[in-house]
Amino acid sequence: MRFHRREAYGPYEDTRRKRLALARKQRLEREKYPLLSEIIAEQQRAGTWNPKQSEHEGQFFRIRIFKNGNAHLWFTRKDLLEKVNKILADYYGEVIGDGQTQAEDVFADKKLAPARRFGFFPTPDEARDRVLGAISLHRNKGQRPLRILEPSAGTGNLARPLAEQQLGYEDIWKREGAYTYRHLVDCVEIQPHLAEQLTAEGIYNRVINQDFLSLRPDTARLYDVIVMNPPFDLERDIDHVMHAWNFLAPAGRLVAIMSAGTEFRQTRKAIAFRQQMENYRASWIDLPAGSFSSVGTYVNTLILSVSKGSSS
Ligand SMILES: C[S@@+](CC[C@H](N)C(=O)[O-])C[C@H]1O[C@@H](n2cnc3c(N)ncnc32)[C@H](O)[C@@H]1O
Repeated sequence: MRFHRREAYGPYEDTRRKRLALARKQRLEREKYPLLSEIIAEQQRAGTWNPKQSEHEGQFFRIRIFKNGNAHLWFTRKDLLEKVNKILADYYGEVIGDGQTQAEDVFADKKLAPARRFGFFPTPDEARDRVLGAISLHRNKGQRPLRILEPSAGTGNLARPLAEQQLGYEDIWKREGAYTYRHLVDCVEIQPHLAEQLTAEGIYNRVINQDFLSLRPDTARLYDVIVMNPPFDLERDIDHVMHAWNFLAPAGRLVAIMSAGTEFRQTRKAIAFRQQMENYRASWIDLPAGSFSSVGTYVNTLILSVSKGSSS
């Protein structure tokens, strides 16, 4: 066998294949930043485009592109900045601060699309016990049963003990030789298979397989007690709690597990929510860190407890 010596690097050959490859690479660069595609095309033609790290200024904004693919964008006009903030606030909700004016109702801006995987995390037993410890189920003889709502009922970890009466108060009735008391527990759950399982248990007054945020309260049938552990992401917990408030009877009590961020987040929605809860004389307690680790999330949580009759 004979080996032929071959130059590793020869002069550049302009082949059709190379031209096609370059055209494809440049097209992908333009597609990566669609808002800038014209600027990029111009610089590609002039041979000055360097996608590694570069800064460009156009009629409306200046952009700096970093090697890791991030880009920082500055608007050159204040009116454009305001418009974009408004569009982003409409789309993403209150995570963007400047998009709304004081006159707007912060709580009307709800996240209507369901959470990713519906924010499904069954309530662990300890957290459940803390929620149940914050409500009173005591009824005097002759009083009607309590109407109770769990509007994000999932597997029923929160709702079940209320419907099954596994709580201490029942002992009181037993000791007195009185009667057992069956409270009326309604569940709402968006996921059909979970709603089916809840129905199959046969212990709930009603199981409603719907998006809770799309339901309207029946003012003739408001709830004495609402317990809930809604989805947390993008401040959906605030949306759910504020919505649940409309379902609460005068003097009713609502107890919710929420993201601990609700206590300190500086978004308009979180600030407005804290203000509202302060007016209602709500109380908060932090759950221990890792309270939801057994169900796969390390998000810090708190328990909010508020009565409708206590507003200032
Ligand atoms: C954090 S989990 C709580 C589950 C429940 N407490 C338990 O122990 O299983 C939230 C639940 O809310 C349900 N959910 C999410 N978005 C909802 C919505 N818009 N309306 C009704 N249920 C919803 C989820 O499917 C999930 O079951």
